[in-house]
Amino acid sequence: MAFPSHRPRRLRQSAAMRRLVAETRLHPADLILPVFVREGISEPVAITSMPGVVQHTQDTLRRAASEAVELGVGGIMLFGIPETRDAMGSASLDPEGVLNRGIRAVKSEVGSDIVVMSDLCLDEFTDHGHCGVLTADGAVDNDATLEIYGQMGVAQAEAGADMVGPSGMMDGQVAVIRQAMDDAGRQDTGILAYAAKYSSAFYGPFREAVDSQLTGDRKTYQMDPANRREALLEVSLDLDEGADLVMVKPAMSYLDILRDVAESAFERGVPVSAYQISGEYAMIEAAAANGWIDRDAAVAESVLSIRRAGADTVLTYWAAELARWIKEGRF
Ligand code: PBG
Repeated sequence: MAFPSHRPRRLRQSAAMRRLVAETRLHPADLILPVFVREGISEPVAITSMPGVVQHTQDTLRRAASEAVELGVGGIMLFGIPETRDAMGSASLDPEGVLNRGIRAVKSEVGSDIVVMSDLCLDEFTDHGHCGVLTADGAVDNDATLEIYGQMGVAQAEAGADMVGPSGMMDGQVAVIRQAMDDAGRQDTGILAYAAKYSSAFYGPFREAVDSQLTGDRKTYQMDPANRREALLEVSLDLDEGADLVMVKPAMSYLDILRDVAESAFERGVPVSAYQISGEYAMIEAAAANGWIDRDAAVAESVLSIRRAGADTVLTYWAAELARWIKEGRF
């Protein structure tokens, strides 16, 4: 018997061989591009902590959306940055508010060529930066927030969103939004539930991206990074409430959670998404800018790892660029 008896290296000896036996592949259609649209600007504004990402005008937003379509990107997720904020986040409900206008603009640009999604949360719209409205003593009021979320769902559906993405981690949010959209005749608008969303330090750059007014943290509503089992509870509640897709967020520090969620979602027959968030983006960009890692290879490997762990689709700020590389056959 020859030694070694097994030579796994045989399947690694050429690019063609490795390609043949690769268990996971990257495809543009599995990527979702998060984008920011800001009110009251005439040129795109760079986000310092996210090199290469900008706050768009309505105009450049349209262009980014049509570029994503050309590259075969699967979805686009919109975040809005309003000019004025108040305690109730009322600009979120205004059909002429920045996000609802952005949804209409993108939808009229791309039609059904890409899945148009919108962030359904109050944090960009409130003057205190929390994801919900506050009680008199400053706590986030779960049930009062739900009422507004339901109205936001209807407003975004009417603006043309194919799916809404509730990201505020209020208990019962999926059920209330589903009911409100159904009552408004919007049965066909889907819900991508931020089911297992952790209270993460890696959201830092996003706070700059949306000019967040938050002081303090979101630990009373977002999940504790220490917890694993609880993610399955959150996912099963959201599915019972009518979520069409479930998401884990952040991605890279939570690949174990993603694996668990992928397995339980498989049993329930629903697709799983993961959000490679702003801090994950910033870390790779910063290390690459210093010449410490090979940028493109690190980007591709990071997204591949998220797919391999169990995500069917990945929200990533590199979606368009990565889609281009994939089309060019680089990854
Ligand atoms: C809340 C929301 C956040 C992100 C997406 N939706 C911020 C938060 O929860 O504090 C973070 C995304 C990222 O960091 O890339 N609307």
